[in-house]
Amino acid sequence: MRRIRTGLIGAGFVGPLHVEAVRRLGFVEVVAVATSSREPAEKKAEQLGIERAYRSYEELLADDSIEAVHVCTPNYKHYEVVMAALESRKHVICDKPLGLTAAEARAMRQRAAETRKVNAVTFNYRFNPLVQHARAFIAKGEIGKVSFMHGYYLQDWLLYETDFSWRLEFDKGGPSCAVGDIGSHWCDTAQFMSGLRIRRVLSSLSTVVPVRKKPVGSREAFAAAASEEMVEDYVVTSDDLASVMVEFEGGAKGMFSVGQVCPGHKNDLQIEINGSKASIGWKQERPNELWMGYRDRANGALLREPGLLDESARRYANLPGGHNEGWADAFKNLMSNIYSFIAEGGDPVSDASRIDFPTFEDGYRANCVVDAIVKSSASGSLWTDVEYE
Ligand SMILES: NC(=O)c1ccc[n+]([C@@H]2O[C@H](COP(=O)([O-])OP(=O)(O)OC[C@H]3O[C@@H](n4cnc5c(N)ncnc54)[C@H](O)[C@@H]3O)[C@@H](O)[C@H]2O)c1
Repeated sequence: MRRIRTGLIGAGFVGPLHVEAVRRLGFVEVVAVATSSREPAEKKAEQLGIERAYRSYEELLADDSIEAVHVCTPNYKHYEVVMAALESRKHVICDKPLGLTAAEARAMRQRAAETRKVNAVTFNYRFNPLVQHARAFIAKGEIGKVSFMHGYYLQDWLLYETDFSWRLEFDKGGPSCAVGDIGSHWCDTAQFMSGLRIRRVLSSLSTVVPVRKKPVGSREAFAAAASEEMVEDYVVTSDDLASVMVEFEGGAKGMFSVGQVCPGHKNDLQIEINGSKASIGWKQERPNELWMGYRDRANGALLREPGLLDESARRYANLPGGHNEGWADAFKNLMSNIYSFIAEGGDPVSDASRIDFPTFEDGYRANCVVDAIVKSSASGSLWTDVEYE
């Protein structure tokens, strides 16, 4: 594979995980990092073993030796950084959600199409081998006509009033916290597994912790408050809990909840799909098992074993059965698809049929669903169409 030089913009929680994933590919070199001025890039460069530290993302984008960039900043910086990266003629891998709003995401999708640079959004759960298997299984009609999709994505890291994140701030996280942050993953994964798009939603968003202690200085992502830390009261307007009913194209119904204030749930994404012949269920925290449900025979589970997977899913299983794979492996699978496309000189417009990773188109669609969910709740929980152009 041709060697590709890439840059990291934002190196908090998820940035280093992007670095680890691309390093596993063997043909991608992370040569530079830029962070916010509050968090020295030099320190991150040293910790991550990256050669160059830039004082700003603009300086990194001016480095002509860099072909692609990973945008791992808080959501409110995605638009500005992605647009500048496309102007600098770099391929862009942006973490989710793509935009603060669908309007921002639509503009990014358009600019990416005009520049014809490879554009990707990290909806990583698609790349678990059993999610890929489930998609193929459903597409082949093995569970019959899909009637219902349900589940949840629950976490507990925002349970206490002393827990805080930029995700809760309207201008930094977007119009929703829990729905935008993790509901976007649930919707993307459910749509990917079933091959069906969400058309309408009815939602109720709530704020379980209405006033939080916001740190006056900076704090590492997902870290608990230190006892001596300076804090101030912050009135939260964003959601930390939500329930959503959905309707998919073709009429299938759905329902899911998201919450970041649910004790004991760490990264608990669960999706069950019921069809006219069988059911299928996948749980992110037990990623090596796929539950199968039947009416007229015993229920069972498919354990991840390359030889038992649909042929299309086999390449996503990196290890033999019994050697568990998880979050980081799926993330690496996603990066493998993106960088193989870049290395082979893929054109996102003329080679669109060869793209096997989520693009800005998927990022835009996800933003459209989140916007509709926020609108539905604000309107008193009325059924609301997902507006997509
Ligand atoms: N795909 C996933 O499962 C997943 C998981 C976690 C986070 N994310 C997404 O990744 C993004 C980052 O989240 P996080 O949890 O890593 O956040 P974080 O707060 O831990 O890190 C943000 C980083 O961005 C940097 N930054 C801020 N402003 C900047 C600027 N102007 N220029 C350069 N760097 C800047 C900060 O210095 C920090 O290094 C978010 O969009 C989030 O939704 C995705």
